[in-house]
Amino acid sequence: MPANLLDGKALAATLRAGYAARVAARPTPPGLAVVLLGDNPASAAYVRNKRKACADIGMVSVFHPLPATTPEAELLRLIADLNADPAVHGILVQLPLPPHIREAAVIDAVGPLKDVDCFHPENVGRLAAGHPRFAPCTPAGCVELLTANGVELKGREVVVVGRSNIVGKPLALLLMQRPHDATVTVAHTGTRDLAAVCRRADVLIAAAGRANLITPDMVKPGAAVVDVGTNPGPDGKLVGDVAAGVREVAGWLSPVPGGVGPMTIAMLLANTLRAAE
Ligand code: GUN
Repeated sequence: MPANLLDGKALAATLRAGYAARVAARPTPPGLAVVLLGDNPASAAYVRNKRKACADIGMVSVFHPLPATTPEAELLRLIADLNADPAVHGILVQLPLPPHIREAAVIDAVGPLKDVDCFHPENVGRLAAGHPRFAPCTPAGCVELLTANGVELKGREVVVVGRSNIVGKPLALLLMQRPHDATVTVAHTGTRDLAAVCRRADVLIAAAGRANLITPDMVKPGAAVVDVGTNPGPDGKLVGDVAAGVREVAGWLSPVPGGVGPMTIAMLLANTLRAAE
C-alpha cells in the first residue's frame, strides 16, 4: 500500500485561515520586509511565494530587490533602517547571498526581535537553550506536518539527514526538546553506512540537498518520511531528496512540491504575526 500523504499544501491553507483572522483583529497589519539580492530564479520564486502568502492573509510585505553587486555596507545600512522602522515587524533576507557578502555579518545585523527566520545567533542560542523566541521556519514546518497528522515523535527514533544551519541543526534541536522528546540522530552524506542509520528511523527527515539520496532500501517499512529537498530536476521541475520508490515502503511521505515548502511559508507568517503581537 502506498504511503499516506503528509499534505503540507492543505495543512498550510488551514493554518493561513487562522492567521488571517488574527491579522484582521489587529488595528494595523503586521509588516514583513523582504530583501532579495540578484536574480537567482529559485530565490526569486521563493520570495514571490512568501510575498503572495503575506498578501493572502492581509499582511504587508515590503519588497527590497537589490542588484547582485550591492556592496555589503549598503545592505547593512538597509537592514539598520528596517530595524528602526516601527511598521516593520519581521525582516527576511533571502539566502544564499552573493559571494562578496559575508552571510554571518548580515545575519548578525538583523535585530533579534525581527529575526523571523530564527537565524540570529541570539535566537539560535535561545533555541538551543530550550526557550526559543521564534521557531525556525522549515524545521517548525516539518514538526507541525508530522504532529498535525498524528505521527508520534515522543521517544521514537528520528534520523535527520543533513546538518545545515537552516534545517538539519535547528530541526534536531527542536525535535529532541519538550514537547516532542524524540531520540534524534543527525546524519549527513558523509555518514558511514548511511543506509543502515536511516533504516533505524521511525521518522526519517531528508534535508541533505541531494536529489534522490534516500532510496527504498534505506527506509524502515511503515516509517514516516519527510522530504525537505528542493533540487533542480533535469526538466526544470523540483526534485526532492527522496526517490520515487520510497512511496511503496513508507507509511507516511511528504511530497515535493506541496509538502514542507508551504509549511515553511506558513511558519514564516506565524513568526511575523508573533513579532507584531
Ligand atoms: N534560503 C533557503 N531557505 C531560506 C529560508 O528559510 N529563509 C531565508 N531567508 N533564506 C532561505
